Amino acid sequence: MSSGDGNKTASLSREPSWRLACLSLQEAGTAAGRQPTASQWLGDELRGESGPSLPANVMVLAPPLCPQSSGARRVKQPPSGPRGRRTRSATMLLHRAVIPCLRQACRLQSVPSRLCIRACSTNDSLQPQCPSLDFSGANSSTRGWRVMGTLLGLGAVLAYHDHRCRAAEKSPRIYTREEVKSHSSLETRIWVTLGCEVFDVTEFVDLHPGGPSKLMLAAGGPLEPFWALYAVHDQTHVREILAQYKVGELSPEDKAPSTLKTSDPYADDPVRHPALKVNSQRPFNAEPPPELLTENYITPNPIFFTRNHLPVPNLEPETYRLHVVGPPGCQSLSLSLDDLYQFPKHEVTVTLQCAGNRRSEMTQFKEVKGLEWNAGAISTARWAGARLCDVLAKAGHQLRETEAHVCFEGLDADPTGTAYGASIPLARAMDPEAEVLLAYEMNGQPLPRDHGFPVRVVVPGVVGARHVKWLGKVSVEREESYSHWQRRDYKGFSPSVDWDTVDFDSAPSIQELPVQSAITEPKDGETVRSGEVTIKGYAWSGGGRAIVRVDVSLDGGLTWQVAELDGEEQRPRKAWAWRLWQLQAPVPAGKKELNIVCKAVDDSYNVQPDSVAPIWNLRGVLSNAWHRVHVRVTP
Ligand code: MTE
Repeated sequence: MSSGDGNKTASLSREPSWRLACLSLQEAGTAAGRQPTASQWLGDELRGESGPSLPANVMVLAPPLCPQSSGARRVKQPPSGPRGRRTRSATMLLHRAVIPCLRQACRLQSVPSRLCIRACSTNDSLQPQCPSLDFSGANSSTRGWRVMGTLLGLGAVLAYHDHRCRAAEKSPRIYTREEVKSHSSLETRIWVTLGCEVFDVTEFVDLHPGGPSKLMLAAGGPLEPFWALYAVHDQTHVREILAQYKVGELSPEDKAPSTLKTSDPYADDPVRHPALKVNSQRPFNAEPPPELLTENYITPNPIFFTRNHLPVPNLEPETYRLHVVGPPGCQSLSLSLDDLYQFPKHEVTVTLQCAGNRRSEMTQFKEVKGLEWNAGAISTARWAGARLCDVLAKAGHQLRETEAHVCFEGLDADPTGTAYGASIPLARAMDPEAEVLLAYEMNGQPLPRDHGFPVRVVVPGVVGARHVKWLGKVSVEREESYSHWQRRDYKGFSPSVDWDTVDFDSAPSIQELPVQSAITEPKDGETVRSGEVTIKGYAWSGGGRAIVRVDVSLDGGLTWQVAELDGEEQRPRKAWAWRLWQLQAPVPAGKKELNIVCKAVDDSYNVQPDSVAPIWNLRGVLSNAWHRVHVRVTP
């Protein structure tokens, strides 16, 4: 084999089972440093794709497919059947052995400029033999031996791994869920489970077609919830790939998901999706990670953000009744689910945002009281149910001056029996164009328990706090709800107001929310490649105001570019759902970091304020300053 000229030629040995990786150490370092170059390319090869992005000095040759003459080319899809499986297995073994060695090699200084690694396996057993190395570059021989010392373990690693796999098949090692959970970072290695099997997927993270960050969401836990979201995974070839990473099985007691203790008031809370970023477990409050939030225009139910103040009630659909208090002198209604189904079914796509969305940015400026929401306390669903105006009309209500508010009570209550409650103006409730729903469906499914099963209020364009879940009672009153969450919370104040001076009665309760936007990709602190950067996010405004523009800056707000708006067109005055947006922008030459900023403009030309300081408030609500993300650029 020759690689001394630093060019891409390499003559391949005649043995049919040779696999060879040849890459410059710079590339090796990048691969070892988890960038999608050489390692990513091996992933492409594994999937049988031959993407155009292979760096000129990276070669991987597969003997069954390699040219007769010397020279390297991209490997085509391995044949299907047992031979294809062996080819894939050989690549996996090579990759799994080479990358850790390269990581080690790269820690050594002054290594030669090029390095070729050859590993071979016999056709039948895949048992690797005689790995060999060639070095090139000025003055490489001595230093080369140091690297060789590191890499000579390659054969042993391959053989050991093969041995471990076989041993695991015969009598698998047993692990508890706690042990699996402790393997959730690159430092501790990344383990996942599927059924009762345990897999160490550390070396596969970079190869994951959906990107490393998506696989990392499952680190230390089960894959099933993610496979349920992304059904494309449940295929034989994916299971085959996974099988190669098996390290053991779950202990018998851990095979069933763990149950909570029954004395706990939250013991009956539903099981949640592990992708959710939990801000508080009891009561349960969680948001989807940013990279999943804007992957779909409609947020899948399992990762829709959840904001609970109390334990989730477990209501029987058969015995459920909604109590609608009639006007004075009239009869009240007690509606079963079937009664509600008799009203015309109305569907509407609505974005729901918590008043505390992005509170963590206010905390960074000055302490506030409240859960540390990032930018994910917002989600979008297609809701279906009866219109509130139809139900109120049936109970005999009309717009009257003496009655001005519709009050809602949830069936979740604290130990004193106090239920969650909120209210909206009667005018909004009675307006058919406002499309306020008593919803029983979310994205075509009965409401999930966390989101109000069997019935919740959906108030398009209005803060999440008024969308009362597990709805038990509706009444029309002169005054707005006396609930704590209407009168002593979810209100905005001047930055000068503190807990000694705050007068909750002096401020109106939040109803329509201000214009909002945030960046979901890239994430703050992430490293992006030079060339071009793709920026993604969401934008939404309260009160049905449409988003007319999202401006994005790469230099902290000095210069701006207009993002492309995706998602459904918005109806004038009824823009209840968000717009997703994205911008592909060239990274200015020589930039080592970017201060990415976004701001949205709605159709009343409301625009987000540039900083947190002037809108800071003691509860950390209404946090809608320009969203900022700081990233580093790799050359
Ligand atoms: N309704 C009841 N009964 N109990 C609650 O704790 N939380 C409110 C609202 N409705 C709440 C409720 C708040 S503050 C928000 S932001 C939304 O529900 C969140 O709805 P979600 O959990 O379906 O996202």
